[in-house]
Amino acid sequence: MDVLQAITERRSINFFEPGIELADEKIKELIELAKLAPSSMNLQPWRIVVVKDSERKKVLRKCAFDQPKAEEASAVLIMIADPGSLEGSIGTVLQSWVDLGYMKPEMVATYKGMAGSLYGTADSLRRKFFAVKNTSILAMNIMIAARGLGLQTHPMDGFDEDCIKKEFNIPPDKIIPMLITVGYLRSGITLLPRAYRKSFEDFVTFNSF
Ligand SMILES: Cc1cc2nc3c(=O)[nH]c(=O)nc-3n(C[C@H](O)[C@H](O)[C@H](O)COP(=O)(O)O)c2cc1C
Repeated sequence: MDVLQAITERRSINFFEPGIELADEKIKELIELAKLAPSSMNLQPWRIVVVKDSERKKVLRKCAFDQPKAEEASAVLIMIADPGSLEGSIGTVLQSWVDLGYMKPEMVATYKGMAGSLYGTADSLRRKFFAVKNTSILAMNIMIAARGLGLQTHPMDGFDEDCIKKEFNIPPDKIIPMLITVGYLRSGITLLPRAYRKSFEDFVTFNSF
């Protein structure tokens, strides 16, 4: 399937076929594709917890205001934005740029300083935006790649973040921008037509707001 078809066909699926296992290899294939997403300075400030176990999905459903898809989908990805990961990853990222010829070693210190001024300190609001923005791009890539692989998805932000953090051992400084349910459309379900979208003119202007 080409990317335009995957974008056009992607829908938020409410009714997943329950009881279908998604192989770990399939989930790996999906995430390996999606992780080619761009990120600010290639810093990839994200984590994902994959929930496949049926008992754990029941817990997730409870945290997600009892939305059945959290339990019925084959897997649920807890998308985690990690504001504090920059300090741990910037060295590796910059070294890879040096190794691959993107930049000279003497530029490393300048880039480190630039990241500090662009993305703030680990506990700042700017850093949280940085982490959430990039994790959301990864999430979109997952949804499009999933369609390309014949899977269906549903992004969800209807959940109690504290409940998920507590139940899935996610440290308090992390942010969960959304969950993504992944699986297959339940047989016999016909999707309603694509939901309303704003017209191009409603939100696009050229050259000035
Ligand atoms: C970040 C985000 C969070 C969402 N959270 C929920 C949710 O908790 N429950 C739900 O039923 N739909 C949720 N949706 C799905 C939207 O309602 C859906 O994307 C929108 O109606 C457009 O439909 P489509 O994705 O099929 O084109 C969410 C979508 C996004 C992008």
